[in-house]
Amino acid sequence: MRVRLVKQRRPAVEYDAELVSDDGTHLIVRIGRGDVWIEHYWRDRWYSVKEVFDAGGRHQGWYCDIAQPARVDGDTVISEDLELDLWVSADRAVIARLDEDETDFTPEVTAAVEELERLARAGRAPFQDRRLVFGEDPELYDRMRPSYPPALIDDLIALPGVGPAARALDIGCGTGKTAALLAARGLTGVAVDADAAMAAVARRRLATLPSWRVDVAPFESWAPADGEWPFDLVVSAQAWHWLDPNVRLPKARALLTPGGWLALFWNVPAEDHSPLRRALDEVYDRLAPGLRRTGGPKEMPPGERRSYPWRQTYSADQWVDLARTHSDHRMLPTDRLGPLLAAVHAAIDAHGGVYDHPYDCVLWLHRREDLLPGD
Ligand SMILES: C[S@@+](CC[C@H](N)C(=O)[O-])C[C@H]1O[C@@H](n2cnc3c(N)ncnc32)[C@H](O)[C@@H]1O
Repeated sequence: MRVRLVKQRRPAVEYDAELVSDDGTHLIVRIGRGDVWIEHYWRDRWYSVKEVFDAGGRHQGWYCDIAQPARVDGDTVISEDLELDLWVSADRAVIARLDEDETDFTPEVTAAVEELERLARAGRAPFQDRRLVFGEDPELYDRMRPSYPPALIDDLIALPGVGPAARALDIGCGTGKTAALLAARGLTGVAVDADAAMAAVARRRLATLPSWRVDVAPFESWAPADGEWPFDLVVSAQAWHWLDPNVRLPKARALLTPGGWLALFWNVPAEDHSPLRRALDEVYDRLAPGLRRTGGPKEMPPGERRSYPWRQTYSADQWVDLARTHSDHRMLPTDRLGPLLAAVHAAIDAHGGVYDHPYDCVLWLHRREDLLPGD
C-alpha cells in the first residue's frame, strides 16, 4: 500500500509501505529502508506514531506526528500533518516537542500532544491501550463510579426470555458493578474484562457466587467455555464504545440465544443549566478545553432507547475523585490535572460545597433478530 503525508507548509510526501494490520480504526504499516519504521495511523485520533528501529533491530524511539484523523482512499492511507511532532526516545530520557512554533494550538492539537506526553511520561507507548487506564486505580473507580438504576435492572429482567433464571454475559465488566446487580436478581453468567486489575475487583465482588466467572481478556479475542453459551442477555455498561466496532456486534449476536437481548447502557450527564454547572464549564474552557463532558454512544444499531433520569449529590472532594476516574482526565499530564481539579473543587466550594448532579442512564436494547449479521 501507499502512505501519503500531506503537510501544511511543505510538499506532500508519498511512499510504499507494507500493511501489517488494520482493525478498522488502527492501521499499522511497516517501512524498511535500512532502519525500520513501524507506522501507526488511527482513523479516530489526532496523531500518528512512527516507531523507529535501527538496522540491527534496536528501538530508537518514536515520532508522534500531530495530524488529522487518518483517511484511507483505495490502498493509500492519508495523514494530514499539523506540523507539531513529539519525539520520545526509547529510554524516554528525551520527550521533546518539535516545530511547536509552526502549529496552531486548537483544542484537538492541545489534547493530542498532552495525551502523548502523558503516555510517554507514564512509560506507555501511544499504541498501547488507552482503554486500560481505568485499571490504574480500580479501587477508586469502584468507589466513585455510580451504579445503575434499579428500574433499568428490573426492565432487563422483565424482557421476554430473560427472567431470574437467565444466563448473562457482562462485557467490559470493570469492577463487576453490573454483574453483581444481575447476580443479586438470580441470573448466572460470565463477566469479561480486558484489564486484570479491574477484573480482580470484580472477582472479589462475585467471590461468593460460584455461578459467575470473571475472565480477563479483550472481548474481541475472548471465547466462552464449551456448554456455557449461548446467553439470554448480553450487557455492556459504559464499555461498548471501547470495543472494536468491527467485531463487537457480530460477536455479541453470535453469543446470544435466539430471541436473546443485547443491552448497552451508559450513565451520561443530563442537561444542567445550574450556576454551578456553568462555573464548572468555565473552568474546563479555561484549563482543559479539549475535555468533553460527554459520554455514551454516538451511533447505535437500530433498537429501542430507554432513559432513566436520576441524581446524585457529591461533595467537592467526591466530585474531584469521580473526575479522576475518567479516562480523559487520567490522560492529562499531572501538571495540568492538578490545577484543573483544584479549580473544580473551588467552584463547588463557592456554590455551597455540594453538586447535585443530574444523570441520565441511557439504555439501548437490541433483540438478537434485529442485529443483522455483519452489522
Ligand atoms: C468505563 S469502564 C466500565 C466498567 C463497568 N462495566 C462499569 O459499568 O463500571 C470500561 C471497562 O471496559 C474495559 N474494556 C475496555 N476495552 C475492552 C475490551 N476490548 N474487552 C473487554 N473489556 C474492555 C476496561 O478495562 C474497563 O474496565
